[in-house]
Amino acid sequence: MKPVRKAIIPAAGLGTRFLPATKALAKEMLPIVDTPTIEYIVREAIASGIEDIVVVDGKSKRSIEDHFDSNPELENNLREKNKLELLELVEETTDINMYFIRQSHPKGLGDAILTAKDFIGDEPFVVLLGDDLMQDEVPLTKQLIDRYHETGESTLAVMEVPHEQVSEYGVIDPAAKVKDGLYRVKSFVEKPKPEEAPSDLAIIGRYLLTPEIFEELEKTKPGKGGEIQLTDAIDTLNNRQHVYAHKFTGDRYDIGSKIGFLETNITFGLKHPQVKDELRAYIKELAAKL
Ligand code: UTP
Repeated sequence: MKPVRKAIIPAAGLGTRFLPATKALAKEMLPIVDTPTIEYIVREAIASGIEDIVVVDGKSKRSIEDHFDSNPELENNLREKNKLELLELVEETTDINMYFIRQSHPKGLGDAILTAKDFIGDEPFVVLLGDDLMQDEVPLTKQLIDRYHETGESTLAVMEVPHEQVSEYGVIDPAAKVKDGLYRVKSFVEKPKPEEAPSDLAIIGRYLLTPEIFEELEKTKPGKGGEIQLTDAIDTLNNRQHVYAHKFTGDRYDIGSKIGFLETNITFGLKHPQVKDELRAYIKELAAKL
């Protein structure tokens, strides 16, 4: 079995839910307290043993490349002023093997993954979407890699969501429960009505995929919203290889929506050593006024 060494972070979407902030800035650069969302994602990949990361970016996404590049002027300034903790923080992210590929038109998540085909080659790989921040004792990407060592086949992360919310997600129809927290998937249902949903297990933003997915993506026609959908390609992959689902039970922060983004900023702010006390006092004061 080949090791899982590479990750794709697709970041070429238009980010329409965050306009006008995302007109010139990648959605993935919006910060949670003081850290761009993509940095949390990159750190999850690195903590899971990933060696090479490719970011699929689009127009106006230079800020992501700059963020992971060195900035000698800033670093010298921090060194001269003896701000060594900050220096360490900014230098940490420049040591990672990051690569950037341009998706010329935002034709969908599936197309973004296909753009990285040559970079991945004939190896299993992981996909991390910037819309979801995950926290658990073991990083979710590592959990998927561990599952891959058991299944040897594509394994997606799913999470149990409240039944009335299934229509906001892609949901799996499980063929069989292999063991606690691991399912073999029969099919996928995109945004089902609650009464028609085959389960409450929703696909969340982490995927471990075998390289055969590229052959399926090459054949995938535009689907929902006129976009080439990754789940459509995984559905057809499921006809030739088993696809598994791993149930995540940690904390998920949906930062792809405005409300989720604000809630996550507050939650992370309430844990941040520099601001947590002031923020707590401010929220109390605000709540008393409302
Ligand atoms: P989303 O569905 O969240 O779309 O994409 P979006 O454009 O980022 O955001 P909204 O919905 O318009 O606000 C899911 C992931 O797929 C990437 C996005 O960057 C995001 O990480 N994506 C989407 C691409 O890389 N290319 C695409 O053509 C579409």
